[in-house]
Amino acid sequence: MPQHYLGIDVGTTAVKALVVNELGSVVGEAESPLEVSVPRPGWAEQNPSDWWQGTVHAVRAACAQADIREVESIGLSGQMHSSVVLGDADTALRPAILWNDVRTTAQCRLITDGIGKTGLRRLVGNPALEGFTAPKLLWMRDEQPHLFDRVRSLLLPKDYLRLLMTGEKATEPSDAAGTLLFDIRRGRWSEEMLDALQLDPAILPPVLPSTVVTGGLTTAAAEALGLRPGTPVVGGGADNAAAAVGSGVVGQGAMQTSIGTSGAVVAPIERPRVDPAMRIHSFNHAVADTWYLMGVVLSAGAALDWFRRALSGPGGMPPTYDELTAEAAAVPPGTDGLTFLPYLTGERTPHSDSNARGVFAGMHTGHHRGHLTRAVMEGVVFALRDSLELMRRLRVDATEAVAVGGGARSSFWRRMQADVLGVPVVTVGPQGGAPYGSAVLSAVGSGGLESVEEACGAWIQPLDRIEPDPETAAIYDEAYERYRKLYPRLKRHFSEQAQD
Ligand code: XUL
Repeated sequence: MPQHYLGIDVGTTAVKALVVNELGSVVGEAESPLEVSVPRPGWAEQNPSDWWQGTVHAVRAACAQADIREVESIGLSGQMHSSVVLGDADTALRPAILWNDVRTTAQCRLITDGIGKTGLRRLVGNPALEGFTAPKLLWMRDEQPHLFDRVRSLLLPKDYLRLLMTGEKATEPSDAAGTLLFDIRRGRWSEEMLDALQLDPAILPPVLPSTVVTGGLTTAAAEALGLRPGTPVVGGGADNAAAAVGSGVVGQGAMQTSIGTSGAVVAPIERPRVDPAMRIHSFNHAVADTWYLMGVVLSAGAALDWFRRALSGPGGMPPTYDELTAEAAAVPPGTDGLTFLPYLTGERTPHSDSNARGVFAGMHTGHHRGHLTRAVMEGVVFALRDSLELMRRLRVDATEAVAVGGGARSSFWRRMQADVLGVPVVTVGPQGGAPYGSAVLSAVGSGGLESVEEACGAWIQPLDRIEPDPETAAIYDEAYERYRKLYPRLKRHFSEQAQD
C-alpha cells in the first residue's frame, strides 16, 4: 500500500499544502493566498479564520492532485511569533498580530529595562524584539485591556490550526522558542520570565517534541479537509526550522539561506549557544537536542514583490519576475553605485530598528529600471551577509549554504548569494520548503521513518551547486561596504522621521 504524508505551512502570503509519498516524492501541491491587513504603517494582522479556510482549500486541492483521500499523518509548520489570542470557547478575540508588525517598541523597552539584557540572555536566550510574541501580549494589556482580560489561551499560527484539527492545544520547542517566554536551554516555558512579565502561565499550551503525535483529526475537521477522522497530527515546527528539516539542514556544520517574504540565515548547533550581544537569535530546532542560530531580514522576497507592484500603474499589470530579473542581469554587479536598504517594514538583524525604512541611495540619470531591480536584489543578499558576518564571529563554520524559499528558484539570485556570501550555494530536491519539512516530521512522528536524519538521508538529494566567482566577489565586497556604511549614517534620520 503506498503511504502518504501531508505537510501544511501557514505562511504570510499563502497557506501551502503538500502531499509526499513514502519515497519522499511530492505527489500533490497546492496553495491558497492570504492577505495581510495593515491598519496602520508598521502594523500587520491576519484573521486566524482565513488560515483555516486557506488550509481547507489547499489541502483539498493537494489531495485531489495526488488522487488520495487518506494520509498516514499530518505535519504543521507556520510563520513564527504571530500571536493568536483566544477567549472562552476558544474564539479568536482579535486578528493575529504578525511577526513583521513593529507596534511594540515601547513594550520591548519595558521588558528590556525590567529584566535587563543579562536577564533575557539567561532566561530566554534572546532580546525583546518587536516581532516576538510576548511584547504583543503586553501591547494588548496596555492598549486593549478589555480584550486582554478575556485572554484564556495564546497560540502560534500552526498551533491554532492544530486546535481546529484535533481539539488539542499544544506547541513544540521550535515555535515556543520564538515567543520570548521559553527557556531555550531547558526546553520549557520560563516561569521566571512569565512571573517578571506578570503573565498567567495557564494561557500557554503544553510543549511536546516536534515529532510526536499531538492528536487525531476530529470528525468535523476530517469532513472539512476530506480526510479520515483520527488521522494523526504531529508536532511540526516553526517555518524556518521546518524549512531547514525540509532541506536537510539539521546538524552542526550545515547552513540554510532563505528568501521568502522574510529572509533568514539558519545554522544548526549542537548545544544551546547565545550570541553575547544577542544580535543573532538562538532557537530550538525541530530536531531533538539541536538548536540553531538565525539572523532575519524582515523584507526579503517582500522587498522585490513590493518593488514589482510599485511599478504597475493604477489597474495595470506589474512586470513579471522573469522580465525584471532579465533586466537586472544586464546590469553589472554592484549596480553602478546604486545601493538599496531593504528595511521597508523596519529592520531585525543586525540593527534591530523598527524605525528603519527602505532606501535607494546613489541614483543618477544613467540608472534605469534594471538597476533599481538589481539594487533591490543585491540589498536583500547584503542583508543576509550582515547575518552571516555576525555568525562567522560566533564561529559558525558552515562551508556552503543551502538556498530555499521562493527566491531560491531564481538561479540569478542564487549566483548573487554565492558571490556576495563567499560560499558555494546549493539547492536540494524536492525543494518543498517548510511544508515538506513538516511532512518529514509527520512521517517520523507516525512511525513511517526512524528519525529526521534518516528521512533527510533517504528523501533529500543535491540538485545544483554554484561556486563563488572570486572576481565578482571582490566587486560585491566593495558594494557591501557601501551598503554597510549606509544604515549608521541614516539611523538618526529614521528615528527623527518616526517622531514626526
Ligand atoms: C523569524 C521570522 C520570520 C517568520 C516568517 O524570526 O520572524 O522568518 O518566521 O514566517
